[in-house]
Amino acid sequence: MSQSHDIVAPEAKVIGVVSGKGGVGKSVFCVNFSIALSQLKKKVLIIDLDIGMGNIEQLMNSPVKYHIVDWMTGKVPLSEVVAEGPGQIGFISGGNAFLHTFRVGEKDLHVFLSRMNELKNKYDYILFDFGAGVSDDSLLFILAVNQIILITTPEAPALTDGYSVLKMICSKNPDLPVSCVVNQVFSAAEGEEAWRRLSRTAERFIGTNIQWLRSLHHDKAVIRSVKAQVPGIILYPRARYSTEMKLLARSFLALNHAESNAQTFSSFLSKAFHYLKKAGGG
Ligand SMILES: Nc1ncnc2c1ncn2[C@@H]1O[C@H](COP(=O)(O)OP(=O)(O)OP(=O)(O)O)[C@@H](O)[C@H]1O
Ligand SMILES: [Mg+2]
Repeated sequence: MSQSHDIVAPEAKVIGVVSGKGGVGKSVFCVNFSIALSQLKKKVLIIDLDIGMGNIEQLMNSPVKYHIVDWMTGKVPLSEVVAEGPGQIGFISGGNAFLHTFRVGEKDLHVFLSRMNELKNKYDYILFDFGAGVSDDSLLFILAVNQIILITTPEAPALTDGYSVLKMICSKNPDLPVSCVVNQVFSAAEGEEAWRRLSRTAERFIGTNIQWLRSLHHDKAVIRSVKAQVPGIILYPRARYSTEMKLLARSFLALNHAESNAQTFSSFLSKAFHYLKKAGGG
């Protein structure tokens, strides 16, 4: 009897990169972290869900023909909306400078989520780069992801807003694994102290355990690389931020490996459908 030896690729893990305050470094993080994972032989796709305000392609100087709304609305297939970024990462642009603000209808979202199933076995990691805070459009995706990486700076307003966002997310989905990166620190101790303050408060008041990833230093090389539109990890591979990002990617993979029951893409999709139904009152 013939046996099928087809190997089904494992499902992607879906990660949401969020913050309370804007401008803390989420998009820069997504690009450099994805390239660091790719250097460790992982296949990564960034989806810019800062729809209409996206800047992922500018950080990489990679012009795109289509953006996520074109895929959402069925204008183009997945193969045409995925662009190739440096360091062999894939990305889907969130688009910018739209003439009209784009609001996703419930029916469109249903079709879009079904279409997303195509991504299931194509990547190891899918990163959603969200805008700051939580919007009506982003909430569904934020709640459904397999895990959250919260980016904050060590400054009090960023920590307070980060906590507010966590409280809002965890009140709706208490089981969502959350880890934290403190960006733009001037010492490692400052970063860890910020995480301790945040995690103590989160544990006490919302019962959420925040996993520590690491801090990333404030680094002029990052600012120069944003200006040059080349990811820092490529332009300045030995800069402090780049070195720390490579270490962060290794710790991240070690943590993910240790979590044997970590959820993956199918669970993301079923949760997204669940929250969509709930939001529609169905
Ligand atoms: N580690 C760092 N060191 C120095 N500057 C940094 C660092 N990380 C980010 N920046 C600076 O912060 C700016 C904002 O970063 P980024 O666009 O990634 O923020 P964001 O959180 O995605 O913002 P938004 O909320 O608007 O989407 C970058 O242009 C860069 O100049
Ligand atoms: Mg951003």
